[in-house]
Amino acid sequence: MGKTSVTSALLDWYDVHAREMPWRVMPADKRAGVRPDPYAVWLSEVMLQQTTVAAVRDYHRKFTGIWPTVADLAAAEDADVMAAWAGLGYYARARNLLKCARAVVADHGGAFPQTYEGLIALPGIGPYTAAAIASIAFDVPATVLDGNVERVMARLYDEHTPLPAAKPVLMSYAEQHTSHSRPGDYAQAVMDLGATICTPKSPACGICPVRPNCDAQTAGTQLELPRKTPK
Ligand code: ADE
Repeated sequence: MGKTSVTSALLDWYDVHAREMPWRVMPADKRAGVRPDPYAVWLSEVMLQQTTVAAVRDYHRKFTGIWPTVADLAAAEDADVMAAWAGLGYYARARNLLKCARAVVADHGGAFPQTYEGLIALPGIGPYTAAAIASIAFDVPATVLDGNVERVMARLYDEHTPLPAAKPVLMSYAEQHTSHSRPGDYAQAVMDLGATICTPKSPACGICPVRPNCDAQTAGTQLELPRKTPK
């Protein structure tokens, strides 16, 4: 499977089909020089852990309305942030959110670190979130691997090794496709593909931009993938 053909097919698809999100800079605007706000990207990625894009939209608007910058959030009362978070669930995320905002202000002068290593050292930021922020906010070619990307890669390569054992091989596939010219758009393209086309139960293979590259589509195994080790 051609590495560049998957990457460029995904980027071409994203140019036309990128979903609008409050924190997202659309491809045409990025070409015109608009840069994503790292604070808005970070906030979205923390909120999107275990929560759907649909549910996150309104909360993200609310948070950036009340606290427009990371310094504003860092200065907030804990109780006000917990109250604004109510309904999103997983309250440890809200506590880590505040810890992280305060670390960015105290240790980094209010500017998010621009590298994967700098980001992952912050409270509440793991490998996925560090890669997402590095790529989306700073166009660093870091590779995101979430559940959506795992499914896309398992299907592209007809990979039958069950999760979680398959994670390293799926990561190596994902790394091979990561764009070095448009890392942020690529990360969001593969996530959008997994969320809207390469879905778990009814993938829309007929309109998939990487159908010609998909080994599972050839084998007819897409509904079986990714496999999971029974709990
Ligand atoms: N899920 C988590 N982060 C996302 C993003 N930046 N774009 C689309 N889906 C996502």
